[in-house]
Amino acid sequence: MILKYTILFAALFFTACIDNKPEKNLDGKKLLEQKCASCHDLTMPPLLSPNEPAPPIMSVSFHVYDFVKPNDESQRFNTAVEFVVDYVKEPSFEKSICDKESLKQYGLMPSQKEKVTDDETRAIAKYMFTHYTQQNLSEAMKAKAKYDALPQGEKIALKNNCLGCHKVDKDLVGPSFKSIQEKFISSKSAMKESIKNGSKGKWENFRAMMPSYKQLTDEELETLSEWIINLS
Ligand code: HEC
Ligand code: HEC
Repeated sequence: MILKYTILFAALFFTACIDNKPEKNLDGKKLLEQKCASCHDLTMPPLLSPNEPAPPIMSVSFHVYDFVKPNDESQRFNTAVEFVVDYVKEPSFEKSICDKESLKQYGLMPSQKEKVTDDETRAIAKYMFTHYTQQNLSEAMKAKAKYDALPQGEKIALKNNCLGCHKVDKDLVGPSFKSIQEKFISSKSAMKESIKNGSKGKWENFRAMMPSYKQLTDEELETLSEWIINLS
């Protein structure tokens, strides 16, 4: 019991210490989105578009973290953070640890001195080096591979939030896709119409409304309905 309180106390004490840092109330993720996304792609893994104005922030994070030269290995994180704080303010060819080819391709980053404070950049950099890590990348890749392997129809259902109201096997806000399959098994076109127009009151026990999906293309409707009709 005493041990438990000691630990709790220690935890509170250390939290209090960290609380004193000025950037602690700053949301690094949000700031990164606001201040850096106009040039740097933030996705992980990156999208790699052909005319990107700057290297993806994942590449920047990995690169800076690996290439800064801390005096002491335990200081790598802080050294990397301070490198970013300085670079964002005053970028230069000399300071850059980007390879020369990329520098030529992108051109030097314009100083962001007027757009972001040191504390904001510090919060951004801390977020960069805790979020863009090998471990998070491999988890993101796994999730992406899993998503890529899904049937096309299920992807459309996910993208359009169908699965927020319908489960395959059990009723939720709307009837299960299995019951829907049963109703429409021999009339796919009626099902497509129904998805397009939405519905209310056709199903007993469901009081919510099925929204209309007029924005879906014929092809999407077809793929989605095929998927529901063929669910096993
Ligand atoms: C106007 C476009 C633009 C904006 C906005 C921008 N950057 Fe950059 N950034 C670049 C370009 C271009 C490069 C590649 C050339 C270079 O390294 O200077 C770069 C490179 C970097 C590097 C790599 C330095 C190196 O030597 O490897 C860091 C770190 C960086 N940016 C951080 C940020 C952060 C953090 C923000 C948001 C506060 C930001 N950038 C906003 C264009 C931008
Ligand atoms: C906000 C919740 C919600 C969302 C989102 C939703 N549905 Fe529904 N859905 C319902 C409800 C509730 C019903 C039952 C409506 C009724 O009783 O008429 C229903 C009914 C249906 C029906 C049967 C309609 C009929 O005429 O019998 C189909 C087919 C259907 N949904 C497919 C979909 C598909 C495909 C998507 C995504 C593109 C989707 N739903 C998104 C709630 C939802």
